[in-house]
Amino acid sequence: MRSELEQIKSDLVAALNNVVDRDALEKVRVEFLGRKGKMGELMRQMAGLADEERKLIGQLANEVKQSVEAGFAKAESDISRAEAGAVAEKEWIDVSEPGVAPNEGHLHPVTRIKESIEDLFTSMGFSVLDGPELESDFYNFTAVNVPPNHPARDMQDTFYIDGRPGEVMRTHTSSIQVRAMREYGAPLRMIAPGRCFRNEATDVRHEHTFHQIEGVVVDKGINFGHLKGVLEAVAKHLYGPATEVRLRPKFYPFVEPGVNGEVTCFICKGDGCRLCKHTGWLEVFGAGMIHPNVLKEGGVDPKEYSGFAFGFGLTRLVMLKYGIDDIRWLQSGDTRFLSQF
Ligand code: PHE
Repeated sequence: MRSELEQIKSDLVAALNNVVDRDALEKVRVEFLGRKGKMGELMRQMAGLADEERKLIGQLANEVKQSVEAGFAKAESDISRAEAGAVAEKEWIDVSEPGVAPNEGHLHPVTRIKESIEDLFTSMGFSVLDGPELESDFYNFTAVNVPPNHPARDMQDTFYIDGRPGEVMRTHTSSIQVRAMREYGAPLRMIAPGRCFRNEATDVRHEHTFHQIEGVVVDKGINFGHLKGVLEAVAKHLYGPATEVRLRPKFYPFVEPGVNGEVTCFICKGDGCRLCKHTGWLEVFGAGMIHPNVLKEGGVDPKEYSGFAFGFGLTRLVMLKYGIDDIRWLQSGDTRFLSQF
């Protein structure tokens, strides 16, 4: 029995050495100290011993029991420490480690060019205005000399909105011309950048949503030379001082005379290339002297005042400036595209 006790002691040492967590410790505890465990078994056997011997063995058994309990206590505290260590390791913060750089983002290329053009115009004394995207049919068409059923409405495929009769998604920023004149009267110098919408079949050059910048100058004695001077200033600002502007007649109901404006192709400098379809020129705006009917709608007397208006395709300027070959990238929200600017 003495040797059995010694055996239990060394078995326990071996078993506890292999214990790594509370579950394993509990198993060992049941094996040694449980009701049917090894110690209990021995204690029961001791009952059959002669008095003298039982006294001796009992003493030894107590010693073993104490060392078994001490062994458990130590194993338990080892496990607790290991668990606390694991938590500490998981929650460890290395305050000297460099942080993760936040993704800052930046302005959209359309916004960048828009702001650069706004800077140019405000430096020439223009104000920057805006107007609603869901616009009345009146301001979008009728006020700019395009009455209902006028064939010129077919130049622009318009989005109408269910349940909003008399309103359209503005097809151009020219909708702001009469708004501005009614609000501020003459003399007037303003630009109005904004999103416009047309029911286009989309492809690399057409998109249902795009940006324009409208410009209006109304004052006494304004003539076509003023218009050309302003357009040249914009072209040179965007594409460099060697850029020239070419104006050719084009019909727009709200101007008379009306022109279609082109700038020197900044790729080939006018020699002809794929971008300008070998013409040496890039078409970027419509413009003209404001039609007397439009001035009248704006409450401005056409006998006293004259003015010019222009509309830049801002989206197109951006595409040309950065060599973007598909207009749909601009609305895609794709960061692979956007992060290049
Ligand atoms: N609104 C015209 C368009 O969208 C452009 C334009 C503006 C033309 C002002 C003349 C004067 O095509």
